[in-house]
Amino acid sequence: MPGWPWELLLTAGTLSAALSPGPPAPADPCHDEGGAPRSCVPGLVNAALGREVLASSTCGRPATRACDASDPRRAHPPALLTSAGGTASPLCWRSESLPRAPLNVTLTVPLGKAFELVFVSLRFCSAPPASVALLKSQDHGRSWAPLGFFSSHCGLDYGRLPAPAIGPAGPGPEALCFPAPQAQPDGSGLLAFSVQDSSPPGLDLDSSPVLQDWVTATDIRIVLTRPSAVGNPRDSEALSYSYAATDLQVGGRCKCNGHASRCLLDAQGHLICDCRHGTEGPDCGRCKPFYCDRPWQRATAREPHACLACSCNGHARRCRFNMELYRLSGRRSGGVCLNCRHNTAGRHCHYCREGFYRDPGRALSDRRVCRACDCHPVGAAGKTCNQTTGQCPCKDGVTGLTCNRCAPGFQQSRSPVAPCVKTPIPGPTEDSSPAQPQDCDSHCKPARGSYRISLKKFCRKDYAVQVAVGARGEARGAWTRFPVAVLAVFRSGEERARRGSSALWVPAGDAACGCPRLLPGRRYLLLGGGPGAAAGGAGGRGPGLSAARGSLVLPWRDAWTRRLRRLQRRERRGRCGTA
Ligand SMILES: *[C@@H]1O[C@H](CO)[C@@H](O)[C@H](O)[C@H]1NC(C)=O
Ligand SMILES: *[C@@H]1O[C@H](CO)[C@@H](O)[C@H](O)[C@H]1NC(C)=O
Repeated sequence: MPGWPWELLLTAGTLSAALSPGPPAPADPCHDEGGAPRSCVPGLVNAALGREVLASSTCGRPATRACDASDPRRAHPPALLTSAGGTASPLCWRSESLPRAPLNVTLTVPLGKAFELVFVSLRFCSAPPASVALLKSQDHGRSWAPLGFFSSHCGLDYGRLPAPAIGPAGPGPEALCFPAPQAQPDGSGLLAFSVQDSSPPGLDLDSSPVLQDWVTATDIRIVLTRPSAVGNPRDSEALSYSYAATDLQVGGRCKCNGHASRCLLDAQGHLICDCRHGTEGPDCGRCKPFYCDRPWQRATAREPHACLACSCNGHARRCRFNMELYRLSGRRSGGVCLNCRHNTAGRHCHYCREGFYRDPGRALSDRRVCRACDCHPVGAAGKTCNQTTGQCPCKDGVTGLTCNRCAPGFQQSRSPVAPCVKTPIPGPTEDSSPAQPQDCDSHCKPARGSYRISLKKFCRKDYAVQVAVGARGEARGAWTRFPVAVLAVFRSGEERARRGSSALWVPAGDAACGCPRLLPGRRYLLLGGGPGAAAGGAGGRGPGLSAARGSLVLPWRDAWTRRLRRLQRRERRGRCGTA
């Protein structure tokens, strides 16, 4: 793993060098030039720097010849372990003198938040101890676990075997017992622990959750278990002895799980990650409330695993994660928008809620994309329109998007139940066949004007009679029956028209439209049948004459009698065949 300066763990001086600022970081380490998220980590720092150290024993209370806690010039408080002066300062923390003091002295450093450790080091100002235990806490000091031991008496002091030269035997990192710090010619010594020394080679922080857990610590504790042989307690009568140390360094990175490039102090003075990638929490250990389209994950060099915002088209501020939907989507998206605003609805607030419809002229993200249905209180059968088109459900005979007008063929009524009723059909047949759809204009064109009855026209019809209409038509299925009196027969044809009372059958659709227009008591010239009549057939009608399409029904004129008699004679002479 790049950036782990193992080679720098040789002297305290080079340790400090490892912690000095490197080359300037890119403008945004957490995003590439295109703005895409990428894994980012805070720089390597001395997490102990400036932190308060709790020492179980400090000299000077009561004052001795060498140490007086109340005199700044002769005090040796634990703050000297982590002050910025570091190695430049000749002053060291010092414990009480043995044998009065307990053999075990602990130094505890709360780091303020989780860090990912790289190394721990401590410089001794006198002969280094014969046994030291290094512990870590991941829960701010509630529980402790060993990181490593340093002893010339591993079995005696810690019940362990000395660490094998090749590192841990198992597959994961473990607390090993390393040799005790060596005394330097000047009588001092350096305790140097690197996380790598207790982890098997090849384990990569990016891909190993075990190693990630191993290096994570919120607090460090150093237990000075046994003084050096110089201060052998059995010789305590002869020699008084105290631990003395300085420059406690906890090299590590603020733990942000790959989602922040720095840590900051929050308003309460707590150290927290400056989280990016839609994450939050002291360690960027969870997704921000609106960023729950997929589960939180630590960033790796290959995959930034940024938390994704739910897609709610700008209409929701909250969403929740649904594992089922996430699985169904092929582990792409599991966010469900909550409390869609602006009258939208749906998992992504992507359609309009009941009673509203989509304004086609606005973008889906527009606050006014959904318009109220506005269904007419009388014309509409309900208040809910089609969410896509805005069409309200209209009552019979009503039309328009909001059901605010009558459909063609209907007219307004006073009834709120049926606000539009069928326009009454003019003429004598208005009460017939109400079920028939009407479009009279295209259906039949009532005959108008005067007709000159030519021989050709006369011959083309099946029969020609003068009738008087007795009453209004009566619906009889597909036909409307008019009682008629045949007053004169000019041609009897296949319908065998004969004088006397008869019936005239008109197709119901024609009659409903008022063509032919037959008024009771009036006389008409009826030129019936012909090619058009055959198409209608006689199906469903009773005896009598028929006036289907192609028939001519003209208000009677007495002036026609002579001409019709002449045409009648010519027809009988066989003139129709040559007409
Ligand atoms: C010193 O530390 C060791 C190991 O942590 C422990 O077993 C022992 O009880 C301690 N002794 C005292 C006097 O605290
Ligand atoms: C709304 O109208 C559209 C288009 O006419 C139609 O496809 C859809 O089924 C309608 N929706 C409802 C709920 O009636």
